[in-house]
Amino acid sequence: MCRGSLDLVTSLATPPPTEIAADLLDDLRTARRGAVALPALEPATYARDHAAFELLSDQRGLIAGHLAGRLAGMGDGPLSILSVGCGDGSLDARLAAGLVAAAPGRPVRYVGVEPWEGSAALFVERMSSLDAPEVSAEVHVAAFADVSLDEMFDVVVFVHSMYYVADVGTALRAALALLRPGGELWVLNAPKAALNALVDVLAPPQENHRQWFSADVGEAFADVGIILEEAVTLDALVDLLATTDEVLDFAVQARLTPELRDPVRAYLRAVAVPARDGSSRVPHPVDVFRAIRH
Ligand SMILES: C[S@@+](CC[C@H](N)C(=O)[O-])C[C@H]1O[C@@H](n2cnc3c(N)ncnc32)[C@H](O)[C@@H]1O
Repeated sequence: MCRGSLDLVTSLATPPPTEIAADLLDDLRTARRGAVALPALEPATYARDHAAFELLSDQRGLIAGHLAGRLAGMGDGPLSILSVGCGDGSLDARLAAGLVAAAPGRPVRYVGVEPWEGSAALFVERMSSLDAPEVSAEVHVAAFADVSLDEMFDVVVFVHSMYYVADVGTALRAALALLRPGGELWVLNAPKAALNALVDVLAPPQENHRQWFSADVGEAFADVGIILEEAVTLDALVDLLATTDEVLDFAVQARLTPELRDPVRAYLRAVAVPARDGSSRVPHPVDVFRAIRH
């Protein structure tokens, strides 16, 4: 009886992790209020730190499996894919390799759009290293809004790149216009869940706008009148609790100052959940939006 009361007192005195996390986030918000924006991530190290981040998460595998399943349902004729914000091509090369393995000889055309030259060069290198004559690949070094494309595609895909466009509705309309009738638009974007609540507080603005999360993307689809065939969430987890400063910076999309790193790490510990193996991981969900050009 007495022991039970003590337990009750202890549990009342210790706020649940969600309250601790909310307080830590508020503290960070207060610390940043009115301060000069933190430096953005540098193009030269972005792809490297992104790759290190993905190695700590099971999200990349879930995305690859989901998109490979969709590609497998698109017949066995020639296929053309536009990957907007293709980065270093690690995901696209994996998908292209899967297409070649499933139907050797099937012509696959891959076009990347990527504003950062180093990442764009890696995209071409990765596609070439598939050594598959049926795969043709090229990349345009440009932001999506600035690229001029004179061909139509079966698929236009944005994997974690819609955050950065100036206007989501404009980008969605432009992407739809690049699809053949029956072609599919796929947008994979993160919600503003535990991890991206940090991005929202810490990341510097992108060309005068904040990063766009899934709610913004969903609203933009509705605003421009593009009907969604599907919107699903892939629930992933990322192991960020003992990561390097570089990966921590990638996770929050800003170059952190040394004094911000401890509170950021404390927040990540507070939002972590138990994984199947008993370790603590940070939720890392991604939403998949799919529309068809009719
Ligand atoms: C998180 S990475 C994703 C890369 C790749 N899609 C993947 O999943 O591995 C986001 C990419 O979007 C690119 N990006 C940023 N702004 C962009 C824009 N306005 N148009 C197209 N791509 C952009 C970045 O350079 C970066 O390579």
